[in-house]
Amino acid sequence: MTVLRTRGLRKQYGAGAGLVRAVDGVDLDVARGETVAVMGPSGCGKSTLLHLLGGLERPTSGEITVDGRRTDGMGERGLARLRRDRIGFVFQAFHLVDELTAVENAELPALLAGRSPRAARALALELLDRVGLADRAGFLPAQLSGGQRQRVAVARALANEPLLVLADEPTGNLDSAATLDVLRLFDALHRAGQTLVVVTHDPRIAATADRIVEMRDGAFVDQTVLSQLPDLSGSLGAQG
Ligand SMILES: Nc1ncnc2c1ncn2[C@@H]1O[C@H](COP(=O)(O)OP(=O)(O)O)[C@@H](O)[C@H]1O
Ligand SMILES: [Mg+2]
Repeated sequence: MTVLRTRGLRKQYGAGAGLVRAVDGVDLDVARGETVAVMGPSGCGKSTLLHLLGGLERPTSGEITVDGRRTDGMGERGLARLRRDRIGFVFQAFHLVDELTAVENAELPALLAGRSPRAARALALELLDRVGLADRAGFLPAQLSGGQRQRVAVARALANEPLLVLADEPTGNLDSAATLDVLRLFDALHRAGQTLVVVTHDPRIAATADRIVEMRDGAFVDQTVLSQLPDLSGSLGAQG
């Protein structure tokens, strides 16, 4: 089953001599439970692509279908609903609310989606447990390490049981130990059947994906299906 499909997806900024073709004709299909890693140099359009997929920005042209529904022509209300009900975002800079504790951050999407405070809290605690932070529920972001903050952000992204999780360089601000924690977490999500699109520079994260797409100048230039490389996945397993 296809969770996400794009055809001829384009996003342009500016005009005339200042025209930027940030996303320039992307055709992408992501099946349920699939993890797709998007790689490519800075400025090639990875973040713009994720923003289009998640309804944070609207395409200049082309089609986006999420769970069988076209989203490219949706209005603000429709897009807000899409983001709230279907999509979990994880950003490089975490984007946690500094004044709220870990559990308060994690429960926000559930509260916004209309869950009762009690149900939202129970869910957030369960998610913090899932990301290995049950004992940090009452901590403020400033009291957490970078890796712990990102794991709170992942818990928050999961609070709506999203059809699709979009992560933009989730380990970009982390040291190597914290990167490993987040790497393991994404791998666990993948194994649990979560559909994921992850923008990353980290070959270890990419190696846990089902497929790696390489972007240059707004377009896909190469795709590697990792399931067709049994030797590679074997050596990764050995690395733990
Ligand atoms: N809001 C914007 N206005 C104008 N240009 C933008 C905007 N956002 C991104 N761009 C340009 O689009 C291109 C792709 O950017 P981005 O998607 O952030 O790349 P990446 O995430 O791969 O580093 C870059 O040339 C960038 O400067
Ligand atoms: Mg980016």
